[in-house]
Amino acid sequence: METASLHQRLNQLITGYWGTQAIYVAAKLRIADLLADGPQSVNDLAKQTNTDPPSLYRLLRALASMGIFADDGTQTFSLTPMAELLRSDVRGSQHAMALMCGEEHYQAWGELLYSVKTGKMAFDKMFGMPIFEYLSKNIEQAKIFDAAMVGVHGRESAAMVEAYDFAGTGIIADIGGGNGSLLTTILSRFPTIRGILYDLPGVTERAKSNIEKAGLSSRCSVIGGNFFESVPEGADAYLMRHIIHDWDDEKALTILRNIHRVIRPDARLLVIEGVIPPGNDPHFGKLLDLTMLTLPGGKERTEEEYRLLFEEGGFRIKRIVPTNAQVDIIEAEKRPE
Ligand SMILES: C[S@@+](CC[C@H](N)C(=O)[O-])C[C@H]1O[C@@H](n2cnc3c(N)ncnc32)[C@H](O)[C@@H]1O
Repeated sequence: METASLHQRLNQLITGYWGTQAIYVAAKLRIADLLADGPQSVNDLAKQTNTDPPSLYRLLRALASMGIFADDGTQTFSLTPMAELLRSDVRGSQHAMALMCGEEHYQAWGELLYSVKTGKMAFDKMFGMPIFEYLSKNIEQAKIFDAAMVGVHGRESAAMVEAYDFAGTGIIADIGGGNGSLLTTILSRFPTIRGILYDLPGVTERAKSNIEKAGLSSRCSVIGGNFFESVPEGADAYLMRHIIHDWDDEKALTILRNIHRVIRPDARLLVIEGVIPPGNDPHFGKLLDLTMLTLPGGKERTEEEYRLLFEEGGFRIKRIVPTNAQVDIIEAEKRPE
């Protein structure tokens, strides 16, 4: 690359937070929702959002320069395909993701240096408690977190059912199943499979209504609990998506051992994570790993790291099935005693 373009590229990376905050403010003001029925002048948008018209114009002009919103030349803005995804009510919405990343995540990332120096969680330093405790005490932020998980990981559900044959599985337990978006995708696709959704009690209350809305209550039980203490018995497959990466090895092993205690030898463990590939190529997991360091205190792992962790937890990895959504399905079985 030419020195000038290297300079430009590095500059874009250095100023990345400008974009994060500009998108966050537009999401917070719900600009995309306001434009859902058609273009509006900046003055009308400013009235509805209680903002300063010239400043709102500058925000929207900057976002339009990134392909988010378009100005028709008269300070009247409309949605672009990317801005459509900032609406809160569309499939694949990134609205909650923009809110989450612009608020707590942004603040915790501001203390990345602390995490790199100490290996400790910047989130705990900023907010005085671990992230999942914070979410259990802040219901509005928890709802945003749930919705952001669908925004960032929702695409993975479809990719998983394409890549992995769930047919013939009797009961699937989704451990840390969140608001149920993965389990409802699987149960909708495979009408004979039954499900157990397991998560913290506050989260399962929210999951219940999603499962009801999907018309799946008769095939899916919802159980509140703590996976550091126990997990439900009796499933043919134990599924955990983006759970193990939230925790350090010691805590991850506690979860694996709790599953090991109840899982039958003929049942499967399916862990869905983005396995970090070797080499320098870009991979979503390499930066997500820094979010894990800074917020919950977990880590993204390489194949070798998963093999060692599973061995210690009493499991053997049988195969790793890639999907087309930058996550892999790690299939494991209980190791004979
Ligand atoms: C990163 S989210 C993943 C959610 C979901 N599996 C998905 O892929 O969208 C982690 C989940 O773990 C749950 N969780 C955190 N601590 C837990 C605990 N001690 N026991 C049970 N679930 C827990 C959270 O409530 C959250 O739903």
